[in-house]
Amino acid sequence: MLLAQEPVLLAHFGSSVVLMATHTQHGHGDVLDLDAELLAEQLASITEWLPVRSTPRRIIDLGAGTGAGTFALLDRFPDAQVVAVDSSPEHLRRLREKAGTDSRVETVQADLDADWPGLGTADLVWASASLHHLADPDRALRQIRGLLATDGLLAVVELAGPPRFLPDDAPADRPGLEARLHAIADRRINAHLPHRGADWGAKLIAGDYTVEAERTLAINNDAPPAELTGRYAQLILSKLGHAVAEELSAEDRKALGHLLESLPHRTDLVVRTDRTVWAAR
Ligand SMILES: C[S@@+](CC[C@H](N)C(=O)[O-])C[C@H]1O[C@@H](n2cnc3c(N)ncnc32)[C@H](O)[C@@H]1O
Repeated sequence: MLLAQEPVLLAHFGSSVVLMATHTQHGHGDVLDLDAELLAEQLASITEWLPVRSTPRRIIDLGAGTGAGTFALLDRFPDAQVVAVDSSPEHLRRLREKAGTDSRVETVQADLDADWPGLGTADLVWASASLHHLADPDRALRQIRGLLATDGLLAVVELAGPPRFLPDDAPADRPGLEARLHAIADRRINAHLPHRGADWGAKLIAGDYTVEAERTLAINNDAPPAELTGRYAQLILSKLGHAVAEELSAEDRKALGHLLESLPHRTDLVVRTDRTVWAAR
């Protein structure tokens, strides 16, 4: 579902004044929803691939966000109940709004860095792009062991970093701008999220799991409507630009202003990202 324009603020890049996605949970919720919409096919292929031994009846989605995994899993396993856990009330509000009266979906607001609430047991625990946000993912993996029913499966989905969109020679006035933005942002994000890009296979083995399968999807998606990709690129690049603005050269700041304005109209954008999934018992 493509959401309406959410909160933006005006920011100055060089001489340009551009719309910037805010860093509120609203802005982040938009990114998660667009991500789910643009990568729906890849997500479906991951849920299809999961080496479950029997059809899961109860699923726990840890760090569920606005429900990308919750609803993809319900498409795959329509008879299951899903408990969607997240620390963000705003994400869970969006998720509940999408669920409507669907009694298969339950939400639990909880900080997984603190004491875990009683979540019961599950045949499938799903943690997509969430474990790297936690202060101590190894502790989380230990907690998850206590949630898994006999023969239960843990699916960890992780990614190397935010998606990229532009050809290398774009934008015309400052080629390579996107790569420069990512290089600065990566340094900063790595300082805040040291577990992003971790070797989750090794972590799982260290946590006494058996990794049954691992799969990486390199996504190079030029199929979605250009307007949708443009809006997604605008959200991602404006967030990155906002985060690293003072480290950008004046020329890059100016070029970013022009680029952000042009993104909804560009037809050369391709969503390039990756997802790796580990299935463990
Ligand atoms: C990148 S999003 C992924 C959301 C969703 N799994 C998806 O694939 O779209 C990470 C999610 O983890 C949640 N999160 C981060 N730290 C958390 C914590 N300590 N406890 C619970 N949830 C947390 C965030 O609120 C966010 O919804």
